[in-house]
Amino acid sequence: MQTRLLGADEGAIAAAARVINEGGLVAMPTETVYGLAADATNGVAVAGIFEAKGRPRFNPLIVHVADIAAARALGRFTQAAEKLAQAFWPGPLTLILRRQPDSPISELVTAGLPTLAIRVPAQPVAQALLAACGRPLAAPSANRSGHVSPTTAAHVEADLAGRIDMILDGGSCEVGIESTVIDVSGDGALVLRPGAISAAAAAGILADLAIAPAMAGQQEPDAPKSPGQLASHYAPNARLRLNVTTPEPGEAVLAFGPVVPPHCGPMINLSETGDLREAAAKLFAALRRLDAEGCRSIAVFPIPREGLGEAINDRLLRAAAPRP
Ligand code: TXA
Ligand code: MG
Repeated sequence: MQTRLLGADEGAIAAAARVINEGGLVAMPTETVYGLAADATNGVAVAGIFEAKGRPRFNPLIVHVADIAAARALGRFTQAAEKLAQAFWPGPLTLILRRQPDSPISELVTAGLPTLAIRVPAQPVAQALLAACGRPLAAPSANRSGHVSPTTAAHVEADLAGRIDMILDGGSCEVGIESTVIDVSGDGALVLRPGAISAAAAAGILADLAIAPAMAGQQEPDAPKSPGQLASHYAPNARLRLNVTTPEPGEAVLAFGPVVPPHCGPMINLSETGDLREAAAKLFAALRRLDAEGCRSIAVFPIPREGLGEAINDRLLRAAAPRP
């Protein structure tokens, strides 16, 4: 299969919508990471997503819709869901809701669960594609299974060229880290995956927000509540050493902040000013670049756990976890 790489002008969006509506696969930019989109109501198209990614299992996927009205048609809103959606949509928040009994979403999207993950992306190209298709789009991150999430069209191309129909190039993703996943399908609200919206920001909207315990290394592989919690999910080839302050000579270094000792070997600073938003936006691209240097290990400087630092540390912990 030949993969067409297009800009994100009107003509490209119309072409992408035709591909989706005929059951094809299109990688689209979102504000978090690039997603690999297919018609969420077409089971065969959704199966194509798993095939293209080489996913070993049918993990449940996030359904992207244009607005809250479209989300209501698919999932049942609890009070907590309503408050979070009003506060953070459109934006990098995914809500787990009970699915409406008559929802047209393919069972493969939900992996047979009675719940559904829904998100309203803010990124203009994603919004334009949703409007042009007029249907919900299932989209996991547009990378080969087990690789780090793509934040540029070139990352998608490197992983999926020849395996999908089209890539819409909308530039670098603004946030650079996946959406926060919050389960609001029952009583209360539980953060399943830390992400672009910090738990503190969400707790500002919902006082009784609970956070699922960090799962890396402790997850029963057969019963993941949220497969994004599996250990070794975001894995470069190099071994990661975390919270390093004195890297070994020749090791690749992922630095953070203004104070960096002299180092001989490849080094990328996620943010010289210690800005966590800048660091999140650069994280996955930096891991890919350092990995491409072929070093056996990457030393990662300590990154504070506040705000977005929580999600950054979560992804790093997974990238460092022992491989299956
Ligand atoms: O930012 C993002 O969320 C990106 C962009 C493309 O939207 N998407 C993304 O998708 O990261 P993916 O497939 O890589 O991760 C989806 C996460 C997984 O952790 C999955 O387990 C969880 O959402 N999830 C999906 N449906 C679920 C459900 N019904 N119950 C619990 N977790 C669910
Ligand atoms: Mg992913």
